[in-house]
Amino acid sequence: MRNERLNEFVKQVSERTDLLQLVQGYVPLKRKGNRYWGCCPFHQENTPSFSVVPEKGFFYCFGCHAGGNAFKFISLIENVSYFEAIKMQAEKLGIELPRREQTPAEIAHEQERADLRKVNEMARDFFYNCLTMTQLGTPGMAYFKARGISDKTIEEFHLGFAPASWDKLSMAFQKRGVKKELLLASGLSAERKMEGSLYDRFRGRVMIPIADERDRIVGFGGRVIDDATPKYLNSPETILFNKRKLLFGLNRSHRAIQQAGYAIVVEGYMDAISVFGAGIENVVATLGTAFTVEHCKKLLRYASEICFCYDSDEAGQSATIRALSIVCVTGARVRVIVVPDGKDPDEYIRKHGAGAFRALVSKALPLVEYRLRYVLAHTDYDTLDGKVQALHQMLPVLTGIRETAMRNEYEKKIARSLMLDEGIVHDELRRYTHGNLNKTVSLPKVPRAQDNAVQQAGRTILQMAVRDPSILDHVQAVVPLSAITDTTQQEIFHFLQNHKGKELFLDNMDDTLSEAATSELSRAMVEEFDEQNHESAYTDALQVLCKSYLQMLYIEHSRKAEEYLRVGNPAYREELSEVKRIKHEIDTLQL
Ligand code: GTP
Ligand code: MN
Repeated sequence: MRNERLNEFVKQVSERTDLLQLVQGYVPLKRKGNRYWGCCPFHQENTPSFSVVPEKGFFYCFGCHAGGNAFKFISLIENVSYFEAIKMQAEKLGIELPRREQTPAEIAHEQERADLRKVNEMARDFFYNCLTMTQLGTPGMAYFKARGISDKTIEEFHLGFAPASWDKLSMAFQKRGVKKELLLASGLSAERKMEGSLYDRFRGRVMIPIADERDRIVGFGGRVIDDATPKYLNSPETILFNKRKLLFGLNRSHRAIQQAGYAIVVEGYMDAISVFGAGIENVVATLGTAFTVEHCKKLLRYASEICFCYDSDEAGQSATIRALSIVCVTGARVRVIVVPDGKDPDEYIRKHGAGAFRALVSKALPLVEYRLRYVLAHTDYDTLDGKVQALHQMLPVLTGIRETAMRNEYEKKIARSLMLDEGIVHDELRRYTHGNLNKTVSLPKVPRAQDNAVQQAGRTILQMAVRDPSILDHVQAVVPLSAITDTTQQEIFHFLQNHKGKELFLDNMDDTLSEAATSELSRAMVEEFDEQNHESAYTDALQVLCKSYLQMLYIEHSRKAEEYLRVGNPAYREELSEVKRIKHEIDTLQL
């Protein structure tokens, strides 16, 4: 809808622009047939090689190869960006730039979010002040000190204390004019059933403010300072606080994650705070929930590798295994940091120091290695039966390794670990990959994504990439750029990639960029950008691309399988299993 209005705007400006008149304002031209000729304003020359074709709406210089439409001409001659050029021309023609009007519902929604952020911010300061400046905070301070949390860390994370009183916060905030409804909506207060008065949700707990990536407080975690239960109490889910999406610490760590090339994921707030305090800043924690695909996507925007560091107890290890299966489908690289002797990262750092933890990080295990260790620890592989069981648990990860050489290495390694003959491992792997495929030779059908959906997805990503070219790295971490089937878009993505870090359009608008690419790019630049929903739009678009890419792979392997089948090449089994695997990936793809 909005895009249409913008397209309409650009179209209107374009239609009402008289290229000939425009150019003649700068360059004297002479007519020859349906073209006009003059001396090029973009390079020094004495014989005219600069041409304008008014009915086609473009200019071109045979000398310096400058060329494009009217907007390109303005941008070159006035030394402004393409977007500026369109705006300048619109202004000259008296055409107004379309402004998006928000609906009353959108305005109300935005207000609600702003109010929630505000009251959360007030609460953060309230808890912090209570901890650091009042008598009421003494037990909280004693707790933090006993845990070895420094004043610097308290300040850095704005840690706080909720006084052990029923309604200190509720009363104070109401006195300061905060509406009852807002206190209830934020989850900071609850309502007494009988009297309808408010009481504090968090009482006698150390408080950990939880921010979104943009550093806005969206909720809290509160920990008891004794053995009471529940140990942790979190803000309830609100329109700001979604545990499936939020990662604690990301507001502080995203730059470090980008720099390091990987993110360390821990289970608890206190672990993240400890790891951060130990000088390892590329760390985030889930909020007491399982690691989700949303978390994964969020991290992949900053780095292509995720490093899990969960508690080394049984629960932590099986949570790791589950998290790994989530991440696998996204194509992210995965490693696992193993914390020895029943510790979580926080306890480990407190006992052995930051340096020792850093050493653990550097020894993080690749996914297969970790899985192998896990399996070896969880099966009795002294017996032949146990060996086979252990082997079977390794097969799924083994088939996931696409590089043959590496897979062979791991086959050997597994054989050694289980004291099995290499040939057996190899045979079992083959049997596993083909086993359930023997019966059926027919290929599962996968509908091809609508080409225009892929094109729209490409366009959405383009819009974002034009504003922030670093996004391309993330896109490529998730899906190869060849997933973009539209050749014009592909051209632009390559263009953007080549111009990463440079100011777009000011002086480097590439002359090699085709007409179609120039216009598509101008469209992406000029289209209004839905800031609020860009995250979901982005992931939706990425999902479409992923799917389309898998479908291309699917078709490619299906063709191969059919061809091999036809000529009686047994390699068809491998292709079939690949087809199956891709089909499964398509079916379970849920970014
Ligand atoms: P400490 O005992 O303070 O070191 O906590 P921890 O970080 O070792 O926590 P633990 O491993 O017990 O739990 C990890 C995460 O799970 C915490 O950060 C919380 O988010 C969540 N969690 C743990 N216990 C509870 C609980 O009782 N209720 C809720 N809602 N969440 C919890
Ligand atoms: Mn702990």
